[in-house]
Amino acid sequence: MSEPVAPASSMSPTEPPSFYDAVGGHETFEAIVRRFYEGVKDDDVLSPMYPEDDMDGAVWRLTAFLEQYWGGPTTYSEQRGHPRLRMRHQPFHVNPEARDRWMLHMRAAVVEAQLSPMHSATLMDYLERAAHSMINTFEPTPGG
Ligand code: HEM
Repeated sequence: MSEPVAPASSMSPTEPPSFYDAVGGHETFEAIVRRFYEGVKDDDVLSPMYPEDDMDGAVWRLTAFLEQYWGGPTTYSEQRGHPRLRMRHQPFHVNPEARDRWMLHMRAAVVEAQLSPMHSATLMDYLERAAHSMINTFEPTPGG
């Protein structure tokens, strides 16, 4: 009798699948982040902060970070080192308005991904808390 063969991912017959695997792996995370950046592109508060000439890089960084956080490949840290997200956001004006816009586009992206209600709620809960913790100023949006 042959042994059951684990699929070529982090799934194994003895461990529960990671959140990353359970929601569909790379394809799902990349779709969410690409949809998120579609919203950012047309947002007058957020778009000035993002590198216009390196949106593919920005997509890669956020996708890889989220994949790693949820139990996928650790490519983010291999290429970018420790995430230190609060520190990496210091150059940007992240006030409550920016957080709300960020969440608006992220929520739309997660809804479109049609995860199960439990996975969707788990992901949104994390994103809400993470976005709140990224606030680094209460000064109004520059030029706004
Ligand atoms: C609260 C509102 C937020 C704003 C306005 C914001 C803005 C930005 C901007 C302008 C960048 C630079 C884009 C790039 O070149 O990669 C960035 C990078 C990044 N953000 Fe945010 N962000 C927010 C929240 C978050 C949250 C909640 C997370 C994680 C759950 C996150 C994760 C990241 C990551 C992983 C990067 C790339 C870091 C790197 O490796 O350089 N951001 N963010």
